Amino acid sequence: MCGIVGYIGKKNTKQILLDGLKELEYRGYDSAGIAVLEDGEFSNFKAVGKLVNLEEKTKDFKTKSFAIGIGHTRWATHGKPTEINAHPHLGESSYVVHNGIIENYATLKKELQTSGVTFLSQTDTEVIVHQFEKNQKNAKNSFEAFAKTVSQLHGAYAILLITKTEPETIFFAKHGSPMLVGINGENEKYFASSDTPLIGHCQSVNYFEDGDYGYVTPKEIAIFDKNGVKKEAKFSPLSQNKLLAQKDGFRFFMEKEIYEQSVVMSDTMMGRLGESEILFDELDKNLFDGINEIKLCACGTSYHSAMSASYLLERYSKIRTSLEIASEFRYREPIMSKDTLFVVISQSGETADTLETLKMAKTAGLKTLVICNVDNSSMVRLADATILTRAGIEKGVASTKAFATQVTVFWMLSLFIAKLKNSLSADEIASHISLLRELPSHVKVTDDMHERIKRLSKRYLHGHGFFFIGRDIFYPLALEGALKLKEISYLHAEGYPAGEMKHGPIALADPELFTIALLPKHLHYEKSKSNVEELSARDSTICAISQIEFDKADDFIEISECRHYMLEFFEMMVVLQLLSLEISVRLGNDVDMPRNLAKSVTVE
Ligand code: M6R
Repeated sequence: MCGIVGYIGKKNTKQILLDGLKELEYRGYDSAGIAVLEDGEFSNFKAVGKLVNLEEKTKDFKTKSFAIGIGHTRWATHGKPTEINAHPHLGESSYVVHNGIIENYATLKKELQTSGVTFLSQTDTEVIVHQFEKNQKNAKNSFEAFAKTVSQLHGAYAILLITKTEPETIFFAKHGSPMLVGINGENEKYFASSDTPLIGHCQSVNYFEDGDYGYVTPKEIAIFDKNGVKKEAKFSPLSQNKLLAQKDGFRFFMEKEIYEQSVVMSDTMMGRLGESEILFDELDKNLFDGINEIKLCACGTSYHSAMSASYLLERYSKIRTSLEIASEFRYREPIMSKDTLFVVISQSGETADTLETLKMAKTAGLKTLVICNVDNSSMVRLADATILTRAGIEKGVASTKAFATQVTVFWMLSLFIAKLKNSLSADEIASHISLLRELPSHVKVTDDMHERIKRLSKRYLHGHGFFFIGRDIFYPLALEGALKLKEISYLHAEGYPAGEMKHGPIALADPELFTIALLPKHLHYEKSKSNVEELSARDSTICAISQIEFDKADDFIEISECRHYMLEFFEMMVVLQLLSLEISVRLGNDVDMPRNLAKSVTVE
């Protein structure tokens, strides 16, 4: 889950690489580095920590004319985040950057060490450059050596390599980690592991497919598939909408993204709401033929939206729905039957565990659907069908608008299937659609609400832990609230089904235990209320979120009047997001780049 960039051309190579890395910093920020080859000489810079450190180190460096360069921002997998472990990694006369994991690196490293190679870093990546240079000794040319190297690697990778023997060439390989090349008609070539660094530089891009490798020069893009057969690049236009990727005056991307939810949820629904039916033109109606079960599979926040979906799909579509955590599913030899629609949910479309389960489902012959935010991502390219969530670029590591749009899509999907299966009447679907139309106004952040949460947050900075509790679909929302809080505040938080507290966790109740209670008026209110009363009786400190005033709570956050529990769901979602944000801000944390995390987890 690192970020990679590359450039061939006459412009300011250093700046292009650094600007590209800036766009990718959310993918990894333990350390960063660049290597530039100009006039047969390498310049290489690395720095630990955020990109500003690398900018500082390179401030006096500038290319004069034509150069090639590669850059990398790292999220450590093998080896600590030190300067030595930062990419690019050097051999005798070549540099490499890599995203992913080389699974057989230990074997390769041992063989290389036996033949006298000295390793400097603890990374798996360094074997690539040494293996390449070993192969160069017996190869006709550098490309042959590179192709042989790629064939010797097992695992997931996106690789860029430059070498002194080919001063105008960047070698690339892609297998399981994203990589693309962009062009602009100016004899320049740009590489990146996602398209944002290329916006503003390139008009069209080619997304490499798994197994692709080859080389790029100012004049040529040579791509070979996994069987070594040469293929044509497939260029598609690159969207130029970069405005969405800027902070717009907010303190953090996360904050901006919370405020954006109203707009992006409208986008999610745009053109998809009929009078009494949901219109997913992108779905072939036959997708659901012969389907008796839906299996939802995802990680993290996307898993929480999948769990929310399981309530909606069973309740409204009357279809059996099961849930899987991707990292568990892929190793537990699951039974997959062909009457199951396998649905993966992913903001990025690149999460390694989820992607792997999609591959498993395809291999087992299941129909597959991906709910995703990134068009052209690996999952979108692989699945039989796609529903895009249209949340726009999400930069905050803590997912907010991606979750909101995923659940919106699932609400619509449950109605779409309900129509196919006749499990809801046209009137019932129409009344859901009118609720959906109200949604954007319910997720608008008001100044009053934000101010209240800001003030309240100062009371929730300590204590020995948080329980977020809710029932039914408010249970996954509670899980999501707890995940949001823990990932950016570093406070311990758990989500729990409200009715389960008495089966053990209530033993923890005391004034230093904070309970965030979700009390929707329109779904099991009395039941949830009595669970909260049990905690209140044991002196837990309670913050209740509801549209009904609750006098047993220490703090109360009132949401606006809602006529349906799903509207309450989304109102409470915003409250939970803001609460996590404000607690974390008070604790002085970098909300957008929480420690130990990265935006897109492309390693298992
Ligand atoms: O891109 P994905 O939706 O597949 O990512 C899955 C998780 O890594 C992600 O949802 C993670 O849990 C969030 N960043 C948490 O806010």
